[in-house]
Amino acid sequence: MEKHVLVTGGAGFIGSNMTDELIQKGYKVTVIDNESTGLRENVNKDARYIKGDIRDKKAMDKVFKEKIDVIFHIAGCASTIKSFHDPAADLNTNVSGTINIINYAIKYKVPRILYASSMTSYGIPERLPIKETQSTKPISYYGITKYSAERYMLATGLRNDLPFKMNVTAFRMFNVYGRRQSLENPYQGVVSIFIGNVLRNEPITIFGDGKQSRDFVHIKDVANAWISAIDNEKSYGKVFNIGSGIRVSINELVDVILRSFGKGRKNYKVIYKKERPGDQKYMQADISKAKKILNWKIQIPFEKGMKDTIEWAMQVYK
Ligand code: UD1
Repeated sequence: MEKHVLVTGGAGFIGSNMTDELIQKGYKVTVIDNESTGLRENVNKDARYIKGDIRDKKAMDKVFKEKIDVIFHIAGCASTIKSFHDPAADLNTNVSGTINIINYAIKYKVPRILYASSMTSYGIPERLPIKETQSTKPISYYGITKYSAERYMLATGLRNDLPFKMNVTAFRMFNVYGRRQSLENPYQGVVSIFIGNVLRNEPITIFGDGKQSRDFVHIKDVANAWISAIDNEKSYGKVFNIGSGIRVSINELVDVILRSFGKGRKNYKVIYKKERPGDQKYMQADISKAKKILNWKIQIPFEKGMKDTIEWAMQVYK
């Protein structure tokens, strides 16, 4: 019988795509989502769906009425900027929420948890590309909570006082993009923010000089990495960078997007504003560990992924 996977945050961008891939591969899936940013319509019809918060007992009890074999813990506040506006809310969702997931996993003896950690755990990299062995000194409040929750997860995996073995893997995800990333939410990720700007014919705003760079990784590649780790014992207790290994500047990103719409800087308004707090200037993942241990490779290069995302976005705005 196929395993039953709980996807927390499964109505959101990352979680809903992950759910689709799991179901396509034959897994049974339960989704829990409080719909703070997630949309019910994104949830695969074949998933069991529970609307509720991961900190809410009633909702969580409902989830565990059925036996869960694996947890994909993705639910969380996903915004660096919001973490500065409301650090207590960010802490509560990302850390207390994770502790609640851990408590339930212990209570119901769930043997396998995969956690959505973040590249923000690193802070300012010592060198590029970033290996998992580099120091972790987050510079945003969000980075602190994601890293903290990652440590709670991994420390639980090391506990020898539990009556069963909990195997944990954490993925430090770089900038994930693709279908269903919000075209309206200014806190959800720069690729869909810029695409949304162009579709609404609004100026694009670049915070800083645009020379800052990111490692963009397509959601399908991310889902493949996670799913390939479920039964891979070599991934137990480990942390993996999930990026593409390639660095793209924000200026380049603007040019690629404008070009895809047949536009350019000459006929489109691009505004430069002050750099935002907690911005990690240059980011690029070293993905050799995931390639080696998970036998994973990038299947959707940036150009292809951008084309697909723009095609989807144009359909949404039709
Ligand atoms: C992103 C995610 C974060 C995730 C992390 C690692 C968001 C909001 N943040 O952080 O959840 O954990 O990757 O995977 O999804 N920018 C502009 N103009 C805009 C929006 C952004 O210039 O309108 C700039 C930002 O200042 C930043 C870069 O683009 O320098 C990337 O921003 P963004 O995608 O929002 O988030 P990250 O900080 O990279």
